[in-house]
Amino acid sequence: VTSDEPVGKRASPRGGHPSPFTRHGLPIGVFDSGVGGLTVLRALRERLPRESFIYLGDTARLPYGTKSAESVLRYSIQATQFLVGRGIKYLVIACNTASSVAVEDLRRRFAPIPVIGVVEPGAAAGCAVSRSGHIAVIATEGTVQGGAYQRAIAKIRPDAIVVARACSLFVSLAEEGWTQGPIVEAVVRRYLDEMLRERGEIDTLLLGCTHFPVLRDVLRKVVSSEVAIVDSAQTTAAALAADLVERSLDTNQPPARMSLLATDGAQRFARVGSGFLGETFAAEQVELVDLAL
Ligand code: DGL
Repeated sequence: VTSDEPVGKRASPRGGHPSPFTRHGLPIGVFDSGVGGLTVLRALRERLPRESFIYLGDTARLPYGTKSAESVLRYSIQATQFLVGRGIKYLVIACNTASSVAVEDLRRRFAPIPVIGVVEPGAAAGCAVSRSGHIAVIATEGTVQGGAYQRAIAKIRPDAIVVARACSLFVSLAEEGWTQGPIVEAVVRRYLDEMLRERGEIDTLLLGCTHFPVLRDVLRKVVSSEVAIVDSAQTTAAALAADLVERSLDTNQPPARMSLLATDGAQRFARVGSGFLGETFAAEQVELVDLAL
């Protein structure tokens, strides 16, 4: 990890956006409600090793998954405003709950900075893998109730039959580092057994929450081997890579940097987040920021 001084501050001084000729050297901004989006950042860095990233986890207001759409939109605007102030060339909403309510709004507000969420790429990944068209989406309460995955899947595959289930406890389990063992397995079964039993046609389980990829091994145990387990991190990374080239925003100027920002609890962010990122980092590498300022 080369987390060091904040990347950026290269946006033109009067708040305008740098020209396309200088923009490509800026970092890609990534935000999430907390540590979960680090699973997405991990995939982005693997796919785009030459790019710099500035990641903001809104740990002070986590979780987003149980908050109203209005609050999540407001938090998303504040997080984006902050990252744009630091200077970014692209924004990735690494949180499913925020993606499901804020993509369109953020695109309008922060144009010309391109914005990508994780819901559309996740839906595309699910549709690409499913043969039967029976897709189960598991996510937070907010994501399920908002229906963004259901809409995104219907757009790509109108004949798909989608069942969505909120699995709120999975977030706490993942944050506690409980990713294996009988208790986790029992919780996963409690949430999924009935749905999978009653809907035997399901051949794809779409992980519509940033935290769920760390529970993949247990999910694999509980779900029949016939069912594909898909998450949006890889497809989001692929979509971002293609769009950067398309917009001439890609860079191959080293060094690639990674800045990690959080709104609360650097210690916890580092401890829990290292597991999500798949790489150990220290609390000293986390810059604490206040979005209200
Ligand atoms: N990042 C959130 C998501 O992907 C999960 C955690 C939360 O509820 O804030 O929906």
